[in-house]
Amino acid sequence: MDISARIDAAISRAIAEGQGGSAPPKLASALEYALTPGGARIRPTICLNVARACGDDKPDLADAAAISIELIHCASLVHDDMPCFDDADIRRGKPALHKAYGEPLALLTGDSLIVAGFEVLARAAHDDCARAVELIRILGQRTGMPCGICAGQGWESEEKIDLSAYHRAKTGALFIAATSMGAVAAGHEAEPWEELGDRIGEAFQVADDLKDAVLDADAMGKPAGQDVTNGRPNAVAELGVEGAVQRFRDILSGAISSIPSCQGEAALAQMVQAMAERLIPEPARHAAE
Ligand code: IPE
Ligand code: IPE
Ligand code: MG
Ligand code: MG
Repeated sequence: MDISARIDAAISRAIAEGQGGSAPPKLASALEYALTPGGARIRPTICLNVARACGDDKPDLADAAAISIELIHCASLVHDDMPCFDDADIRRGKPALHKAYGEPLALLTGDSLIVAGFEVLARAAHDDCARAVELIRILGQRTGMPCGICAGQGWESEEKIDLSAYHRAKTGALFIAATSMGAVAAGHEAEPWEELGDRIGEAFQVADDLKDAVLDADAMGKPAGQDVTNGRPNAVAELGVEGAVQRFRDILSGAISSIPSCQGEAALAQMVQAMAERLIPEPARHAAE
């Protein structure tokens, strides 16, 4: 099965699990709304490509790792759009979940998705208990405090923001989870894979800042100009559009050279390069030429 089919199948299983039994119907429907149709599914795609590069000897565990990260990511978007954070009305081209279902169900949807992420890994533990425990540990580390998504969102309540710590935690953490959990699911050590995730995450954040600055809401499926509106520090404000594109390219070349040696190293380097090309928004690409 190809990687995107594996992701779709595992997401469908997670939705069915969440909607089983005597689930409250509106929350059950909101869970599905948060997960489908998906966005780019970039984190689980990276996770499964790393697992493949490392031999992918336990594909069910790799699928669980990939999907657990996507569940946390979708939860973070639901919470991030709520009025107490970015107060955004649109996500993935449709009303943000709190607009469609109301704030109480948005809060509960995010909470349920976070819990589901850990449950998916616990359920896959029969495949290899030691690896599953390590996957749960990494997912917790990259979701909570002091350096996970919670920490990232927490920086927004500080008077002085450490930009690098903010981006690393808000966005980078789940990319580090993607590379290191892909490796661990396939029986490799996490640590050598952290730098790749860290660098992809940094590049992704620069690309996201570029999109926020140069694309409109229709092109992005979410509100544009949010960084300026919300007074968030960002790469375009700091470096300009051309400088941000150059920064993206520099980070990317470092990312590729950080790939640890493994059987699928060349294919993985190609995949990272191809994925990165698609991240720079068209108008910014021209501005930098
Ligand atoms: C958006 O992430 C949130 C950030 C961390 C900047 P994505 O751009 O990966 O969102 P989807 O899942 O594709 O919609
Ligand atoms: C969201 O960051 C990162 C999360 C942890 C959810 P942003 O607020 O910059 O992302 P978008 O622009 O809403 O997708
Ligand atoms: Mg935000
Ligand atoms: Mg936001």
